[in-house]
Amino acid sequence: MFEVGTMRIERGIFLAPMEDVSEQPFRRLCRRFGADLVYTEFVSSEGLIREAARTQAKIVLAEDEHPVGIQLYGNRHAALVEATHLAVSQGPDLIDINFGCPVKKIACKSGAGSGLLREPELLLSLTRSVVEASPLPVTVKTRLGWDEKSIIIVDLARRLEDLGVKALTLHARTRSQMFKGEAAWEWIGKVKRAVSIPVIGNGDVKEPADVARMFAQTGCDAVMIGRAAIGNPWIFQRARALLQTGVDPGPPSLEARIEVYLGLLDEELARKDEPRAVREMRKHLSGYLRGAPNVSHLRAALMAEETRRGVVEKIEQFLEWRRRRPEEEWRAAAVQPTFEPTPAVEVPEAVS
Ligand SMILES: Cc1cc2nc3c(=O)[nH]c(=O)nc-3n(C[C@H](O)[C@H](O)[C@H](O)COP(=O)(O)O)c2cc1C
Repeated sequence: MFEVGTMRIERGIFLAPMEDVSEQPFRRLCRRFGADLVYTEFVSSEGLIREAARTQAKIVLAEDEHPVGIQLYGNRHAALVEATHLAVSQGPDLIDINFGCPVKKIACKSGAGSGLLREPELLLSLTRSVVEASPLPVTVKTRLGWDEKSIIIVDLARRLEDLGVKALTLHARTRSQMFKGEAAWEWIGKVKRAVSIPVIGNGDVKEPADVARMFAQTGCDAVMIGRAAIGNPWIFQRARALLQTGVDPGPPSLEARIEVYLGLLDEELARKDEPRAVREMRKHLSGYLRGAPNVSHLRAALMAEETRRGVVEKIEQFLEWRRRRPEEEWRAAAVQPTFEPTPAVEVPEAVS
């Protein structure tokens, strides 16, 4: 049972913090599709206190996305404390600290994220500072250790619990593994048995069945899903259905998925300029088309689009092409529509 602050969540299924992915529209979407708790992407404590507008925008929360955690990273006490105050003022349900990011710039150059797994005493004292600064529950997300020769997670988990950390998310890889190899779920079970705070298991949950498997194999209190939720937000409700009824209802129709995709695009458009919103949505696109027959030309055409109009036109063309054919024909591997580039909109010259 995930009991943190006022939250009481039985077999929680959470959305992972993901840079440039777990933005507000996507978090809200995942909540609508059944994620029990969502996290912001990681937020630099240094950026936040320097009043960098783009960093500050990352901690703005919507009313309908709760429960939500704001994730911070950094390696300086004063910056993390000040950032904690700023994050708390946005009214999240918890503050999460990132000690897992393996990216060189963060882990090696800045000595933050998973870099702190090489300096556990500093990691612990930074955590203590955040716990003392925060009236809200503080949780930690980390990895097994720096490399396979220095797996420190069981001892670290106990010490984090002693400091007052209210839950621990474990991405069951070392820093050296980055995203390679397989997540070693057995460590999630070992940590769960070593502490009494809730443990959130993370790493390589790809399908709803993996959620059930991770609960069964590790005894964790919640499962966190990252990459598999991109372009696939209904994984949360499918996994919930599987846990409750034993049956995975499967993904929605392509038409329904496209509708969700365009809804997300429109929310991004309300926040960003059009070319940027359309470009950034490309990382979600493949997921929405996954498994649909004969969409490779459509996917390629959409990847080249820079405008909402172009995206909608291509999708309409594709669906129209399908509607005009009997199902066995549009499912056949040999057929596929081709697409012309969408012509640029002609802007009339200004008349002076
Ligand atoms: C694009 C991307 C961005 C990520 N950004 C963050 C982040 O900001 N904070 C964090 O704690 N982990 C981050 N992660 C790691 C994920 O939260 C998660 O631990 C990892 O992807 C393993 O889970 P998965 O196999 O379900 O994807 C990121 C992962 C990806 C793929």
